[in-house]
Amino acid sequence: MTFDLVLVGFGNVARRFVGLLHEQRRRLSHDYDVTLRIVGIATRRHGQLFSAGGLDARQFAARVAAGGLIDTGGPAESTHSGPAKAGHYSASPAKAGHYSSSAAFIGDVADRCAAAARQRRLIVVETTTLDIRRGEPAIGHVRASLASGAHVVTANKGPAAFAYRSLALAAERAGRRFLFEGAVMDGIPVFNLVRDTLPGVRVTGFRGVVNSTTNYMLTAMEEGRSYQTALAEMQARGIAEADPSLDVDGWDAAAKTSALANVLLDANVTPQSIAREGIAPETAERARAATGAGRRLKLVVRGSRSAPPGVGLEELPADDLLASLEHQQNALILQTDLLGEFAIVQRGGDLTQTAYALLSDILAIARETTGARATRRSPMPARRGRSR
Ligand SMILES: NC(=O)c1ccc[n+]([C@@H]2O[C@H](COP(=O)([O-])OP(=O)(O)OC[C@H]3O[C@@H](n4cnc5c(N)ncnc54)[C@H](OP(=O)(O)O)[C@@H]3O)[C@@H](O)[C@H]2O)c1
Repeated sequence: MTFDLVLVGFGNVARRFVGLLHEQRRRLSHDYDVTLRIVGIATRRHGQLFSAGGLDARQFAARVAAGGLIDTGGPAESTHSGPAKAGHYSASPAKAGHYSSSAAFIGDVADRCAAAARQRRLIVVETTTLDIRRGEPAIGHVRASLASGAHVVTANKGPAAFAYRSLALAAERAGRRFLFEGAVMDGIPVFNLVRDTLPGVRVTGFRGVVNSTTNYMLTAMEEGRSYQTALAEMQARGIAEADPSLDVDGWDAAAKTSALANVLLDANVTPQSIAREGIAPETAERARAATGAGRRLKLVVRGSRSAPPGVGLEELPADDLLASLEHQQNALILQTDLLGEFAIVQRGGDLTQTAYALLSDILAIARETTGARATRRSPMPARRGRSR
């Protein structure tokens, strides 16, 4: 079955996702009977593009990565079924494809892909920049997608951190999926692990280290490097958020904590309502003192059904799993009623893992839509001698 994808946001994650789809296309077709076709791309400043017949998204990814636009100001075209020409719009209304917002773009694309939307084959892939004060524009994009009959998958923390309850309800009412595996620990299973693999298990709490930049900086400061040097290393490697205060002031960890609490613990919190601590230049001395005492200073996120969630610096004993995390490593410990405590550890993260999170959400939707067809085919068992 073919699914039509609309990419809202076309930055690092979305462009790696485009590459991953290309690399995995044969496996998706052979193992899952799924073809994923990109029909729309919307950005904030780099233009918008639609073609009902599918876009050569890799071409546009290369162009944007090189500093170009997907919008070169070409004339508007009416809907056509072939691949779009570079820089030309094909789904735009009379105004040459400039929509007042990406939400309007989503609505228009869904109208033009009405059959795919009706047949549950239209999926919006949301990867825009997070506004940590409000969770927008992603929340609006999720709402617009569901209202248009599209499923929506996102790597953005905003929707689950700020508006999980209302968006989950909107998805249920629309009969569509709202999935966000990439919001915490990239593609390492967290939300889908609990949702799909642990039926009947109730998560009662969690604790973890979920921000790579601050864990790297704490490790580097233990090793004697300064706060500024450690931050510069993370920025040079493209790991720190564009605005480093999102990482070092604990906002990224707070947004992840909020998403975890809302989804796993049925809380109704936002990053603003979470007690939050970050790291600062003077943290270096504290980190080194903790190491000297055989302990490790970590930025720990916590949540439970009986206490409000929070983010704070904690000195952990050496035998605590979280104390063993070096550099960019992350881990999440889940406390449950039936399985006790268990941990998920991420040894290293990169864009491929985030892109895979989007793909895993899409395959979950494909499985639901197509039933058994989109379930991984297992090899046929070798024939053995007839049993008696
Ligand atoms: N990078 C990672 O490793 C990682 C890991 C996990 C989760 N995430 C999350 O994934 C999301 C994307 O990350 P990224 O690294 O790809 O960010 P990025 O490179 O900064 O790209 C953000 C994209 O969003 C677009 N955008 C912003 N506002 C928009 C709007 N209103 N409508 C349409 N497009 C809009 C931007 O368009 P313009 O360029 O035209 O402004 C750009 O294409 C973020 O929420 C991030 O927190 C990232």
